[in-house]
Amino acid sequence: MVHAQPLSVAAAGPSLAAEAAALRARGPVAAVTLPGGIPAYAVNQHTMLRALLLDPRVSKDPRRHWAQWEEACRRPEWSWVLQWVGVVNMLSTYGVDHARLRRLVAPSFSVRRTELLRPAVAAITERLLDDLAGGSGGSGRPGGSGGSVVDLVGAFAQPLPLAVIGGLFGIPDRMRPDFAQVVEQIMDTTVSSEQAAANLVRTRSVLATLVEGKLRDPGDDLTTELIGVRDAVTGDRLGHRELLDTLLLLISAGHETTRHLLGNAVHALLTHDRQLRRLRAAEITWDQVIEETLRWAPSIANIPLRFAVADIDTGAVTIPAGAAIVAGILAAGHDPGHHGPGANRFEPGRDTTDHLAFGVGVHRCLGAPLARLEAGYALPALFARFPGLALAAPAGALPQAPSFIVHGWQTLPVRLATPAPTVRASAR
Ligand code: HEM
Repeated sequence: MVHAQPLSVAAAGPSLAAEAAALRARGPVAAVTLPGGIPAYAVNQHTMLRALLLDPRVSKDPRRHWAQWEEACRRPEWSWVLQWVGVVNMLSTYGVDHARLRRLVAPSFSVRRTELLRPAVAAITERLLDDLAGGSGGSGRPGGSGGSVVDLVGAFAQPLPLAVIGGLFGIPDRMRPDFAQVVEQIMDTTVSSEQAAANLVRTRSVLATLVEGKLRDPGDDLTTELIGVRDAVTGDRLGHRELLDTLLLLISAGHETTRHLLGNAVHALLTHDRQLRRLRAAEITWDQVIEETLRWAPSIANIPLRFAVADIDTGAVTIPAGAAIVAGILAAGHDPGHHGPGANRFEPGRDTTDHLAFGVGVHRCLGAPLARLEAGYALPALFARFPGLALAAPAGALPQAPSFIVHGWQTLPVRLATPAPTVRASAR
């Protein structure tokens, strides 16, 4: 059945999973309006989403392919989306433009280069765990039945990937809180148009300060490398705007998504006793927990925006050329038609080989090996150090990130209980 009225997508929660289910109930593709009234088509089913992510008639370049691009630049209530599509980097380009921007950066994130980061990830994790054990990792509030209460997001899940990406890009310690703030605001789809516009200005200023610092004082880091990088095919460099926007993409994608992977995995395990027991009994592996977390609670629930290059007949619905498209990663992850009748349950050990949490096709995530490396070290290390880890607030009362794009916890109060003697997690 085709619905006459587009479904209105809330700027945030209360339940992204419930919203995804409502969208899926409307069919594989449904007309929606996004915050601010932006019309779009949401793709809500695994097979359809996979097909459209691989379809060359689907672009990510708003300047060339969004019929409402000029309107988007004019309308203040749409300005939140400009933080996503108004930038010029590989995430918002198409065809040869995309291939060029991706080619300049991809070698730095190969599996082999990523593997070299393992000692740094281990050192950062152990330092944060030491801080937590020593009581300097958060509020340190007494937790009643044993152990202090800390916000695991603020003390572990966020600083860990921020420190990894900060080290990789040579971001001075004093600038890291600025990056954390501007990126958190980009992900926040509840901000006012004034806040979104102001954040765009602040983001550019923070990035420009980073680049100016590296021009004065180059380092052994990826920011310095990107300033000087030359395309192997054309020999050209990144233009100034491309450089800033590529840095923004890598630094933001590089920490905010992994923050939510860590938070979502901890939350899933602490609210699913049986799965935690199976993990401890080695009936399931950490890799299975991580992949199931990505499927069940993907850090990016909805990706804004793609654009139809031509009319696309999807069956019941034709997406007209020039229309905007939202990729419903969470809706696809919970699609019972693909993942079975228990698709909305967290059950590590199921077949997750083709989940779409990292996308697919030309825009597939460049940092997936890094995210898996970080989670694969940090999560076992956390649960080994604090075997009695427990939620310190009712599961239903936890604040979600204010967004319909990212899917995770704003804060995650946990009771640490007695730390185990320091045992290094195996640096596989
Ligand atoms: C759990 C962690 C992560 C998740 C869930 C995630 C998710 C995604 C998804 C869904 C896409 C595809 C976007 C699209 O198709 O429009 C993507 C692209 C991308 N990701 Fe990640 N990501 C994660 C971590 C990282 C990390 C650590 C980095 C590295 C710095 C990174 C860098 C990128 C880049 C550069 C792209 C754009 C690729 C392109 O457009 O060609 N991501 N990510």
